[in-house]
Amino acid sequence: MMKGRVLITGGAGFIGSHVTDELLNSGYAVRIIDNLNPQVHGPVKGPPDYLNPEAEFIRKDIRNIDTLRKALEDVTHVCHLAAEVGVGQSMYEIEKYTEVNTLATATLLQALVERPVEKLVVASSLSIYGEGLYQSRSGEFYTQTQRTPDQCRKGRWEIDDLNGDPLFPVPTPEQKEPSLSSVYALTKYDQEQMALIIGRTYQIPVTALRFFNTYGPRQALSNPHTGVLAIFSSRLLNDKPPLIFEDGRQKRDFVSVHDVARACRLALESPTADDQVFNIGSGSAFTILEVAEAVGRVLGKDHIVPEITDRYRAGDIRHCFADISLAENRLNYTPQVSLEQGLESLALWLDGRTADNPRFSPGGPCRQPVVQKGGAFGSGPPV
Ligand SMILES: NC(=O)c1ccc[n+]([C@@H]2O[C@H](COP(=O)([O-])OP(=O)(O)OC[C@H]3O[C@@H](n4cnc5c(N)ncnc54)[C@H](O)[C@@H]3O)[C@@H](O)[C@H]2O)c1
Repeated sequence: MMKGRVLITGGAGFIGSHVTDELLNSGYAVRIIDNLNPQVHGPVKGPPDYLNPEAEFIRKDIRNIDTLRKALEDVTHVCHLAAEVGVGQSMYEIEKYTEVNTLATATLLQALVERPVEKLVVASSLSIYGEGLYQSRSGEFYTQTQRTPDQCRKGRWEIDDLNGDPLFPVPTPEQKEPSLSSVYALTKYDQEQMALIIGRTYQIPVTALRFFNTYGPRQALSNPHTGVLAIFSSRLLNDKPPLIFEDGRQKRDFVSVHDVARACRLALESPTADDQVFNIGSGSAFTILEVAEAVGRVLGKDHIVPEITDRYRAGDIRHCFADISLAENRLNYTPQVSLEQGLESLALWLDGRTADNPRFSPGGPCRQPVVQKGGAFGSGPPV
């Protein structure tokens, strides 16, 4: 028996296409609304070939309320994933990011007030935290740390307390206050909070999921504003070394898209998840250098040594990785894919694929300010 009909906004994208598979395999009908944004999909005529043919596909823009009203007919659940997703790009395409992420979410909520559903899941992001949670040697927690441009210019990458004593990164829980340092982060926070407020007001159960760095098959290699693993893979496939900002020891939480897709289904199905936000990560932290080397290994390119550039991007954080205990307890979420397994599945998908993209070279169109240690602002690759 069909469990319900889920509308997935952005369902042709990287995460959305895996959520589509996960939900179809679990007995839901799926309707996708996606405008096939050319930055993600290229100049295509139809949906990507990886998209599950059992899903109903509507090529439309979510900024239009009439389109959304129609797409919501007979729908029981909504998974809202459509967004502009480049942190750096959001700093110079401010209007577009606000329109697609904040305003279109408002439009969706407007349509949902007229036609409520059993559950709305909305995609948020680790980026709302800014720096993750830190602890001093004596055990005191620090929630609002930030590096100064001056210390980064001197190549002092780690974070100290006011006395100059080192602070140590620890897993970041949902209660850590946001520290919004990009327009993208601001719009993701807008999305989750607006959805939660409207959900509470109109008794629409809402769950916001803060995805950490998601990777896996179907990640758009041609998009220069995509995740770091796709960028490293793209460079390696072109026999170029991954370019590493700072010293490469910054820590992140890389989560397989298969685990993220499962988390979306669990959030749609769990009443204990209503009116809450959850971190969705792998629960493990790796340095960027470790991950660049691991990508090289699985692609059979470990002879290409990652290049440490000693440059940094203004506004980049040093460390952030997830505390996933809330999702484990309330969503019954358990990450099932290790980094090695996940990278192997990425490599399988990349096998034979070309990543001929000059935009991954220094001097490409990334306009986020990049600074050389000890030097002045310049432009550089999006790592
Ligand atoms: N990938 C990650 O590491 C990551 C991390 C944190 C949060 N997220 C969030 O997860 C969600 C999905 O991200 P993704 O990595 O799959 O990105 P993606 O770019 O692969 O997918 C987004 C999809 O939305 C569609 N879209 C964009 N604008 C649209 C519009 N106006 N109307 C209709 N469709 C539109 C695009 O065509 C694309 O298919 C986003 O909300 C993103 O902010 C992703």
